[in-house]
Amino acid sequence: ATSIYGDYIKSVIRTVKDWPEPGVNFRDITPVLQNSAAFRKLIDSFVHRYQELDIDAIAAVDARGFIIGAPLAYELGCSFVPVRKKGKLPFRTISETYSLEYGESTVELHSDAFQKGDRILLVDDLIATGGTMLAAARLIERSGGIIVETAAIIDLPELGGGDMIRAEGYSVFAACT
Ligand code: PRP
Ligand code: ADE
Repeated sequence: ATSIYGDYIKSVIRTVKDWPEPGVNFRDITPVLQNSAAFRKLIDSFVHRYQELDIDAIAAVDARGFIIGAPLAYELGCSFVPVRKKGKLPFRTISETYSLEYGESTVELHSDAFQKGDRILLVDDLIATGGTMLAAARLIERSGGIIVETAAIIDLPELGGGDMIRAEGYSVFAACT
């Protein structure tokens, strides 16, 4: 599924060719954030989808996921939980290491972030290979959370990340492709 404002949001996202390395088309969301009307439509499209779904907490992925996760938690009246890159969270953590195109990365979650059975919406800005979202999903389930859906501003279809996340049994929503 894509969102009510999907075509509009897509038109405001900027693609930067060959960044950070040759061959990558980087999807830059900063023009959306600079445009107050576009930023509001983006957050509203998520609010519209999730306001009746009894979400207990938004879990958002460091760092660009925080930008949409925090206003969404505020609007839904639920809590906000950061999923952070390794070494940033001060209390007891659980971690998941996953493969990137080159090398690997680790995400962490505070062990007391959720109550068992909490209904969690997992958000990030973008799904590329899907590895980050899946690692974050595993952390949430290990800590007893129930993933209602995984949501992103952009799901890059050519990389198959959304389908990989669905193949693991999660629902995936993107504001645009
Ligand atoms: C980007 C993006 C997602 C992830 C998507 O984060 O924000 O979290 O990559 O890639 P994947 O689907 O292949 O896992 P990045 O690690 O660049 O971090 P940032 O948000 O701190 O810029
Ligand atoms: N993270 C991974 N791939 C990306 C892309 N093409 N644009 C923006 N962020 C990304």
